Amino acid sequence: MLRVKRVKRGLTPLRVVAATEERVVKHLQDHLEQLPEQDERSRKVLQQMLEDERQHGDVAAAAGGKDFPAVGKGSMGALSQLMTESTSRL
Ligand SMILES: [Fe+2]
Repeated sequence: MLRVKRVKRGLTPLRVVAATEERVVKHLQDHLEQLPEQDERSRKVLQQMLEDERQHGDVAAAAGGKDFPAVGKGSMGALSQLMTESTSRL
């Protein structure tokens, strides 16, 4: 039942995956910008994670996960920010 409601609102699983990966990529980019230039080892790890997540999002988008509804995107952004902030406090 819940799945049917989500699909009716345009929140198909592939769209959710594509939007989630997009948020993860932005999050990783933020971390990468905060890392010291000389920390090459950490930068390489984050770069690889970023490439992997970007590829996941591209695959989901290519498989039909494009054009996530604006309302859903806003909700995902708020949820992702809440998760990021609560995780960093633990
Ligand atoms: Fe991923």
